[in-house]
Amino acid sequence: MAGEEIRNTQVIFRDYVSGFPKESDMYISTSATIKLKLPEGSTGSLVLKNLYLACDPYLRIRMQRIENPIVFTSFTPGSALNGYGVGKVVESGHPDFKQGDLVWGTTGFEEYSLITETAQLFKIHHTDVPLSYYTGILGMPGMTAYAGFYEVCSPKKGEYVFVSAAFSAVGQLVGQFAKLMGCYVVGSAGSKEKVSHNHPQYACIIFKCFQLQEEQDWDAALRRYFPEGIDIYFDNVGGKMLDAVLLNMRFHGRVSVCGMISQYNRDPPEGITNMINVIFKRIRVEGFATFDYYHLYPNFLEFVLPLVREGKIAYVEDIAQGLESAPAALVGVYSGRNVGKQVVAVAPES
Ligand SMILES: NC(=O)c1ccc[n+]([C@@H]2O[C@H](COP(=O)([O-])OP(=O)(O)OC[C@H]3O[C@@H](n4cnc5c(N)ncnc54)[C@H](OP(=O)(O)O)[C@@H]3O)[C@@H](O)[C@H]2O)c1
Repeated sequence: MAGEEIRNTQVIFRDYVSGFPKESDMYISTSATIKLKLPEGSTGSLVLKNLYLACDPYLRIRMQRIENPIVFTSFTPGSALNGYGVGKVVESGHPDFKQGDLVWGTTGFEEYSLITETAQLFKIHHTDVPLSYYTGILGMPGMTAYAGFYEVCSPKKGEYVFVSAAFSAVGQLVGQFAKLMGCYVVGSAGSKEKVSHNHPQYACIIFKCFQLQEEQDWDAALRRYFPEGIDIYFDNVGGKMLDAVLLNMRFHGRVSVCGMISQYNRDPPEGITNMINVIFKRIRVEGFATFDYYHLYPNFLEFVLPLVREGKIAYVEDIAQGLESAPAALVGVYSGRNVGKQVVAVAPES
């Protein structure tokens, strides 16, 4: 099989997007082929068979025309999307990887990918846990929750913690980390299904949560849940929620600015009007990029794997089957259709 040239199904990015992305902004193509054998002289490259792909919110940012890239570059219209995933090495010209190795990191939204840049590829050594977890709890979102909560927020036992998009890939972990630390935790989420603690998937996720649409006034809801104010806000959404939170922060509170999903489809974005509270209450507002903390990945695994194995942390995934389901799965993230980490299963593991 290694020398064969085969058809490579891909999810192609059609053209730059404004507003909410639609399924039709992507299409499935079966016209490309790939050689499963590496070209001569391609030292340092790999051919990867993709098993799982992650529908991560930042992909929307890459769908727009980015004139001056700071963190992200635009996708190229007419080319396959790329993002985080889990794959199996089919062939390797890289000394650190061999055929059959499992890895997670940046790959293509396609059946097979030629990987020429391996700096953001992590070898998977622990396979007693679901492989798909390396798109979520054991991959980039897990590292985001870990770095954004422990490194950025400097949490202490007993503190009051608020998490928005609390049942997202990142949010569900931040809530559980805070709970394990002995904090008082409240989250917000968009649907009854996510908020209901009776949902069997959420058996271990036992922090309080309010549903956004049921609250007329988020400032009032926060005052109700946090009569003494908020010490730590883990911000996944930005916009009006951040504004309401600023009114409810305690002195020397910390805001970990992780993401602004409420703004990704808006042009121009909404303004924040309550920033004066940052001064009055000496609040530390800090943005972060998870890849700045990847050197901590071994520490993170050492911390989180035992919690997963002992069932002290739960992780909810929403797995769509087949590459063909990727456009709908990805678009669904921006309306909260996903219940937990949105994953696309591309191929059977064995
Ligand atoms: N800084 C970093 O390095 C870094 C790394 C990873 C992720 N992030 C950011 O962290 C945030 C969470 O990411 P994730 O991977 O955990 O997300 P996710 O699992 O893909 O879930 C996204 C959730 O966001 C909520 N949402 C969608 N559109 C929204 C809107 N217009 N307003 C408010 N909420 C909306 C929905 O939850 P509800 O149904 O509950 O509303 C949706 O399920 C995102 O902003 C992402 O960009 C940042």
